[in-house]
Amino acid sequence: MAKNLLRGAAIELIKSAEMMQARSDKTRITGGKIAFVPTMGFLHEGHLSLMRKGRNLCDELIVSIFVNPTQFAPGEDLDSYPRSLERDLELCEKNGVNAVYEPPDGQLYPDGFQTYLTLDDLPHHLCGLQRPIHFRGVATVVAKLFNIVKPHWAIFGEKDFQQVQVIKRMAKDLNYDIEILTGPTVREADGLAMSSRNAYLNDRQRKDAVCVHKSLLNAQEQVNSGERDAQKILEQAVEFIKSFDGTDIDYIKICNPETLEDVEAIEGPVLMALAVKFDKTRLIDNMTIGV
Ligand code: PAF
Repeated sequence: MAKNLLRGAAIELIKSAEMMQARSDKTRITGGKIAFVPTMGFLHEGHLSLMRKGRNLCDELIVSIFVNPTQFAPGEDLDSYPRSLERDLELCEKNGVNAVYEPPDGQLYPDGFQTYLTLDDLPHHLCGLQRPIHFRGVATVVAKLFNIVKPHWAIFGEKDFQQVQVIKRMAKDLNYDIEILTGPTVREADGLAMSSRNAYLNDRQRKDAVCVHKSLLNAQEQVNSGERDAQKILEQAVEFIKSFDGTDIDYIKICNPETLEDVEAIEGPVLMALAVKFDKTRLIDNMTIGV
């Protein structure tokens, strides 16, 4: 188990799956409880809020940092995904993390790897329509990380709403004895949801990106004014986002939060979710709206 000797800090940087498992076994044998925040690094306040939630529950707080290649399709941003390990370790340490599991490339998918997890239905909505292999990669890596970190709780951000639904379903279907918890989307002062990918935006795009969140707020206002027709609300959202130069809408949906199936009439709480591209940068957001 390698200490993060670079800064002589107490936090442990663990590179090996076996060492991570051994550490968790030791914690569990002595009755210790483990909370786990899986990440792809380049940490921001959204991740830190999940860590703080975990810290309050557990004896051992573990974070993983791994940019998972199987959730990126060819041509997506795997190679350019922002990385900042040294800064991430500092943030982890400041937020009470006991150990960071950061496997080297190739460890989780060695030569000959051929076992993937697929879900029948949830991935065939929202982000899964444009990213057909994405949730297979997410479910597979999260299942592997659960087996390596062996947590009692795993905590995910609600910005990735569909991811949370996929992971909850996977954990239930496979009888993982892990409680899946969520933390609310953390936003910049102007409402933009925090995301590692915000780093790709130029100044103009960063300013315009607020339209993603604003479209959700507008939708709730329409509901408050009596509109119940989801299609009408979606049409206005499309028009609003298109009024910002260079935006390309991947999807905007109003759907059932459990099944992710489209909803026609708004008669209770529903999920409004969208993905919008600013040139190559794809931002997602969502909000529960309704009466
Ligand atoms: O949300 C993320 O950062 C990733 O999808 C996750 C859950 C760490 C799996 O790679």
